[in-house]
Amino acid sequence: MAINIKSEREIQLMRESCKILAKVHDELGKFIKPGITTADINKYGDELIRSFGCVPNFLNYEGYPASICVSVNEEVVHGIPGKRVIKEGDIVSLDAGLIYKGYHSDAARTYAVGEVSEECRKLMEVTKQAFFEGIKMAKAGNHLFDISNAIDDYVSQFGYGIVRELVGHGIGTKLHEEPQIPNFRQLRHGPRLMPGMTLAIEPMINMGRADVEWLEDDWTVVAEDGLPSAHYENTILITEGEPEILTLL
Ligand code: MF3
Ligand code: CO
Repeated sequence: MAINIKSEREIQLMRESCKILAKVHDELGKFIKPGITTADINKYGDELIRSFGCVPNFLNYEGYPASICVSVNEEVVHGIPGKRVIKEGDIVSLDAGLIYKGYHSDAARTYAVGEVSEECRKLMEVTKQAFFEGIKMAKAGNHLFDISNAIDDYVSQFGYGIVRELVGHGIGTKLHEEPQIPNFRQLRHGPRLMPGMTLAIEPMINMGRADVEWLEDDWTVVAEDGLPSAHYENTILITEGEPEILTLL
């Protein structure tokens, strides 16, 4: 088992796949408003992905029944879209991915619906910044867990709970490739980062305690204490210098 190093040709395909996903996310961000259902978001996202000639990679992944994961408030990740109506003050995490010419992309954003509490705004900001703090360490020659440790160091000062049951991952011709990328402190260094690695870095941060549980649907992960949770994810490329964030336009 080893971490895939992508060729120039593969990197180009990853860039294309990720750029399309970035456009899908931007459209979904504009679409979110009070009164729509989580199923509406999924339907629009699925249509957008297919309009680019791509295939949603989450649909039927280990039996997941939708194309977009929609997780509201205390839902951490993998919410199943349905009849739930989005309302003012909610925070909504959208996780989406697609396949373009055999290459997977994966990204997540958390959106505020209208005015949200100051506490929620802070949580969303810190979660997004946690990604950026992590990738400051995402350089060839550094070790994988330098990313994990940087995320933990940054997030911990706010007293938030870092979800431990789910982690980031390598990505390429499969949605989940090696390595796993925890968002919390590691005792070891992990593998050395090398140019050509493509990684999905995805902090999942709870306002309260880190503990999560799974709902009866076997997918939806929620914060055990019922407090809000945020998620921010991009697919990145390790280079000789600064990492390329492939799923941002
Ligand atoms: N971005 C998610 C992850 O890396 C993908 C969810 S897979 C799904 O775990 F099946 F839930 F869609
Ligand atoms: Co992911």
